[in-house]
Amino acid sequence: MAEHLIVHGADKQERYQTLLPQALALIESETDQIAALANLCAALHSSFDWLWTGFYLVKDKQLVLGPFQGPIACTRIPFGKGVCGSAWQAGATLVVEDVDAFPGHIACSSSARSEIVVPVRNADGEVVAVLDVDSSELASFDAVDAEYLERITAGLTHLL
Ligand code: SME
Repeated sequence: MAEHLIVHGADKQERYQTLLPQALALIESETDQIAALANLCAALHSSFDWLWTGFYLVKDKQLVLGPFQGPIACTRIPFGKGVCGSAWQAGATLVVEDVDAFPGHIACSSSARSEIVVPVRNADGEVVAVLDVDSSELASFDAVDAEYLERITAGLTHLL
């Protein structure tokens, strides 16, 4: 395994393009779920200027905090609650430009301003986790983030 990721580019699309094969290689080369999720969080978080990057895993009909990078966070989120629980319920990626304008947003950090949550599915198509990314700036996330984060998390299927 490479010791360092090489991520570069003039804009975030180029950065994602250089990160994508390396992130997928990190995941494919590991069979332990926690190990792979932890390294993927580190790879994503260190490649961008984000506030918080992490996974919540579906356990006992709620989302429970998994591997993450950033400040300490809420440990449990009910189905349909907050951005994470809403993305789980909808089974679709949610991009929130202003978290204060999202009804029911759960503020784990008062510094969070925008957020993206990507549902992660197992081989049966069930949502078994979500990837949550927070930014301290408004409108940090868009369709480019959704596309690449969905492509990267699709590589997790064999672990879930
Ligand atoms: N803001 C999320 C909660 C998780 S923290 O951002 C890490 C939400 O509304 O679901």
